[in-house]
Amino acid sequence: MSQTQLYMIAAMSENRVIGLENRLPWHLPDEWKHFRKVTEGKAFLMGRKSFEAPDALHSAYRNVILSSQKPEKTEPDVEYAKDISGALALLSGENEVFVLGGATVFREMLPMAQRLYLTIVHTQVEGDAFFPEFDPNEWVLASSEFHDTDDEHAYAFSMNLYIRKAAG
Ligand SMILES: NC(=O)c1ccc[n+]([C@@H]2O[C@H](COP(=O)([O-])OP(=O)(O)OC[C@H]3O[C@@H](n4cnc5c(N)ncnc54)[C@H](OP(=O)(O)O)[C@@H]3O)[C@@H](O)[C@H]2O)c1
Repeated sequence: MSQTQLYMIAAMSENRVIGLENRLPWHLPDEWKHFRKVTEGKAFLMGRKSFEAPDALHSAYRNVILSSQKPEKTEPDVEYAKDISGALALLSGENEVFVLGGATVFREMLPMAQRLYLTIVHTQVEGDAFFPEFDPNEWVLASSEFHDTDDEHAYAFSMNLYIRKAAG
C-alpha cells in the first residue's frame, strides 16, 4: 500500500520568520512562481489561520484545512479536518501532499515530513510566526537555487530542497 508523502513548503528569513500579523513579510514574485511550479496539481494541507490570510495561496485541486470549527458553507475544493489524523485520513488516497503551514502546523507536522521545500530569504525581519528549528543531521540538502535582488525582489533568496535521511 502506498503511503502519502508529506512535503512542507515555506519561506523563512535568516532569523526564521515566516509571518507578521498573518501576512508574509515580503513580496517575492519569483518565489511564488517557484511555489506554483513545485505544488502544481497537488493537494494542500494547512492551518485555518494561513488559509484565511489575505495573501494565502490555495490549491486549485484540493485544500484540507485544520480547524477545531467547521464552517457551515465551504467551497467544493475545500475540506475541513478537526485534527491531524482526520486530515491524513481524508488525504490517504494522495501520493504527495504539501503542508503549507503556518507556524503551528509546521511545528506539529515537521516530524512527519519527508521533504522540506524551504526558501531562505536573505534578511532579518521582525515577525510573530516562525519556522521550527530542525536538526540538519536528519536532512540532506538535495538542491539549492539562488535568486539575487532585482527591481521586483527587495531581498535575495535561496530555494532549498531538504530530503529526510533514511532511518538507521
Ligand atoms: N512564509 C511562509 O512560508 C508561510 C506559510 C504559511 C503561513 N505563514 C504565516 O504563518 C502565520 C500563521 O501561522 P499560525 O501558527 O498563526 O497559524 P496556522 O498554523 O496557519 O493556523 C493555526 C490554526 O489551525 C488550526 N489547527 C492547527 N493545528 C491543528 C490541529 N492539530 N487540530 C485542529 N486544528 C488545528 C487551529 O484553527 P482553529 O483556531 O480554527 O481551531 C489553529 O488556530 C501567518 O503569519 C502566515 O502569513 C507563512
